[in-house]
Amino acid sequence: MNLSQKKLFVIAHRGASAYFPENTMSAFKAAVDMKVDMIELDVLLSKDNIPVVFHDEKLDYKTNGSGLVLDYTISELKKLDAGSWFHPKFKNERIATLREILEYSKAKILVNIEIKPEAVTDNEESGVVELVLNLVNELEMEDQVLISSFDYRVLERVKKSRHPVKMAMLYEQKQSNGRAPVKLAKDYNIDAFNLNKKELTENWVKQLNDRKIPFLVYTVNDKKLMESIIESGAKGIFTDKPDVLIGVVEELFKKN
Ligand code: G3P
Ligand code: MG
Repeated sequence: MNLSQKKLFVIAHRGASAYFPENTMSAFKAAVDMKVDMIELDVLLSKDNIPVVFHDEKLDYKTNGSGLVLDYTISELKKLDAGSWFHPKFKNERIATLREILEYSKAKILVNIEIKPEAVTDNEESGVVELVLNLVNELEMEDQVLISSFDYRVLERVKKSRHPVKMAMLYEQKQSNGRAPVKLAKDYNIDAFNLNKKELTENWVKQLNDRKIPFLVYTVNDKKLMESIIESGAKGIFTDKPDVLIGVVEELFKKN
């Protein structure tokens, strides 16, 4: 993945999640149909160690199940309705495995795999990082994938594996012990920063731009804010409304 190849990457946050149940196949298909550059998805592990695409640690809000994702096997998770919470017409939507989404995305769309801290354990052997990297290898998608996490052990393990995949650090001040993004970028030798829009201060933008560290900003659904973030030099924006962002990008780059 070459982050300098475009002026701005339109990234569908959990798919086109303003219009479809987040992190489901239909949300990703809709994003691809809208012609986004990248989809973003969240990864947790099932009880039997299958990487699944789901954001919340608990099943309660976004399925008809309850309790922790990691307490259920993949065949149990597959029985759940992952769409009705959004709208009854999506009642047949199922929790997707990472394999299913990657197979669908291959040679079609870039994928930001966000590994959730809840999936990371102290045990590196056969842990989530290894499982995800093995899948990326098997499907030969090294050039199509960007791995990110709030849990910096993920970044350390990807580096240690010497895998060629690109890495982004998810940054929120409270999780970073007050360390500035530029310092962390150097310490972890990452390829990009994924920053919360609330943390985008003028000072940090300047530091990142001065050092030519690509930064991607989440999650932005407001048109005016999209415009100002693009003008700040961001390399990408995560949005639940990719159609809105595509409209903004077309307008802005037509003018310039
Ligand atoms: O990867 C960007 C964004 O998805 C991080 O926050 O909670 O939406 O996964 P969250
Ligand atoms: Mg995410």
